[in-house]
Amino acid sequence: MIKSLFTLIAAVLLVFSFGLNPNKNKPDYTMIPRATQLDTALAASMERGAQVYLDFCQQCHMPDGKGLEGVYPPLAASDFLKKNRKQSIHAVKYGLSGEITVNEKKYNTPMPGPGLYDEETVDVLNYIMNSWGNKQEIVTQEEVDAVKE
Ligand code: HEC
Repeated sequence: MIKSLFTLIAAVLLVFSFGLNPNKNKPDYTMIPRATQLDTALAASMERGAQVYLDFCQQCHMPDGKGLEGVYPPLAASDFLKKNRKQSIHAVKYGLSGEITVNEKKYNTPMPGPGLYDEETVDVLNYIMNSWGNKQEIVTQEEVDAVKE
């Protein structure tokens, strides 16, 4: 009788401990394909980057990324951004001056270095490189670190 009572208590405890397992409802990330993991990381970075853009970029490049012809170049569907990934990272890290051509129009107004933290640089680049018709591979911290002045 006592033995079966113990067995019963042990069984109840076992059932409860499963119920309390904190990982029970967590997704098993190892089961999610890598492409989906990257999409999720990109979406999260873009969301943070959108805020950085509002705070530090939209006053010149405009909220819709279209810029101001002849003065502030567009980021929306920008061929410069598409063809000059490293130089674009450099511009967002340190600023940019000298004549450039964006979508067949010339610009020559200096862009001051926005003075962002490295994480903000990564996030805002992911935002502009994947908004308004742009589509690029995810920018990583290592990639931004590798671009020196
Ligand atoms: C004070 C206005 C100003 C601000 C603020 C500014 N930019 Fe610029 N940006 C410019 C100008 C002007 C150029 C062109 C520079 C040249 O002519 O050499 C430029 C060029 C660029 C380019 C390369 C050209 C292109 O259109 O693809 C990128 C990329 C860019 N800016 C991104 C950003 C990002 C991201 C931010 C915010 C973190 C930002 N800029 C903030 C004025 C600004």
